[in-house]
Amino acid sequence: MRRKLAAGNWKMNGTRADLSVLGDLAGAATEDGPEVLICPPATLLHPAATQALGTGIVIGAQTCHEAASGAYTGDISAPMVADAGATHVILGHSERREGYGETNADVANKVRAAWAADLTAIVCVGESLEDREGGTALAVISEQLAYSLPNGATGQRLVVAYEPIWAIGTGKVPSTAQIAEVHDALRAQLGDRFGAATGAAVRLLYGGSVKPDNAAEIFATSNVDGALVGGASLTAADFTPIIAALA
Ligand code: G3P
Repeated sequence: MRRKLAAGNWKMNGTRADLSVLGDLAGAATEDGPEVLICPPATLLHPAATQALGTGIVIGAQTCHEAASGAYTGDISAPMVADAGATHVILGHSERREGYGETNADVANKVRAAWAADLTAIVCVGESLEDREGGTALAVISEQLAYSLPNGATGQRLVVAYEPIWAIGTGKVPSTAQIAEVHDALRAQLGDRFGAATGAAVRLLYGGSVKPDNAAEIFATSNVDGALVGGASLTAADFTPIIAALA
């Protein structure tokens, strides 16, 4: 049985004052309910992890470097993320792939680094509007998944997030049939590659304009184990009902 996961990606938003959201969310994270993950900017990883202690909320980073240390000005490594108290890291988000030229091979190297630091990697895949309209969405996603994952995945250490680029921050959401088609294909591909047990254990998140008013319908969709939420994870008022919709 896969535990549901409500993951918030704060992107480049938030200062220390915004960590009050963790306090407001504390009651929403229960042992029997969905896992609640907040991925704040790197500057907030340690204070967030400290503040989350005892609440059941877990903390993740939004990226990491593939090397453990070295001359990489401005970057943070997976061991640093773990040292800050985080347990997860988002990798291969389309904003990193598009804005920083991260390739599938780069993502796979970062996943290896995350696993070496005992972090759970949340690997993002998703098609552009052009791919969707051109009928190549499934092929593009399948290729991203194949080459963004190194060997050795386990259900504990890997989460896959399907984020259609055209749905991120736009208010547009694919139909539940489109989400199901992609998630079923992801599940099958993971099973073929890593074996049935791992394929069945990896959690699959949907991300892209998840809001309180569409969460329940999305979560009722085949092979959707939770969400990776951007804008609606910034306030407890929006994120709490999304967490509740997963319970
Ligand atoms: O990683 C989450 C994300 O890209 C979706 O953002 O604001 O559309 O929920 P948003």
